[in-house]
Amino acid sequence: MNGGKVHALIPAAGSSVRFGGTTLKQYAHLLGMPVMSHSISALLHHEAVGSVTIALAEDDGIFEELVRPRFPDVFTVVGGESRAQSVMNGIHFISAEFPDCEWVLVHDAARPCLSSSDLDRLLVQGLASESGAILAVPVNDTLKLADDEGRIERTVDRTWFWAAQTPQLFPIGPLRVNLEAALASGSSPTDEASAMEQAGAHPMLVMGSSTNIKITGTEDLALAEFILQRQSVRE
Ligand code: CTP
Ligand code: MG
Repeated sequence: MNGGKVHALIPAAGSSVRFGGTTLKQYAHLLGMPVMSHSISALLHHEAVGSVTIALAEDDGIFEELVRPRFPDVFTVVGGESRAQSVMNGIHFISAEFPDCEWVLVHDAARPCLSSSDLDRLLVQGLASESGAILAVPVNDTLKLADDEGRIERTVDRTWFWAAQTPQLFPIGPLRVNLEAALASGSSPTDEASAMEQAGAHPMLVMGSSTNIKITGTEDLALAEFILQRQSVRE
């Protein structure tokens, strides 16, 4: 595959408000290592990924002790106020350090259950695309549109709805320009595809798995543990 031209970027500078408590979810304990270490490991072990850069909160204070020993070669940058700003900071670093970088692969620190087959599929289809690709899954539930009193306005046809996940793979130049434009206009896209869409691009939806969950609340940790144990039995 595309040796060294794909560089991974992991936004990990969030403050885990919905997770609650005093532990940041990216450092929560999951099968013997922090959540983030599973996410890093999934990317680092892929042959197409040339480097991994992680955006950390300015006052992080945990990474060097809990994560660095297992991953001595990853790079870190200071993240920003929003996920989009954290990604922007990472892209500036990657552009400066790796001028030959063509593609950037962005993956949430809080998604520890990414399988190697999903990552493979995204890279194969994304690298052959024009404006990038994301992992996503078709929505299974019946969708209801709510009115402002919390009642059902109507049922929405779910045929065309997909739930976006990460990783998301984009050519680094267009992503940098489009994310900069989105931030400058005052919007803070919650994923990279949104910034590309705002500029008129149509990234591809690549079939992912419902097991590629994002840790949001504490209850997600038990589910992630179960998923990772099942994956290790199969691999
Ligand atoms: N993130 C980041 N910089 C921010 C906000 C989020 O790098 N300013 C990262 C998080 O660390 C996480 C990913 O973006 O890995 C996805 O964000 P989310 O799940 O929303 O994490 P948090 O923002 O930390 O959680 P919450 O919204 O509950 O506060
Ligand atoms: Mg958030």
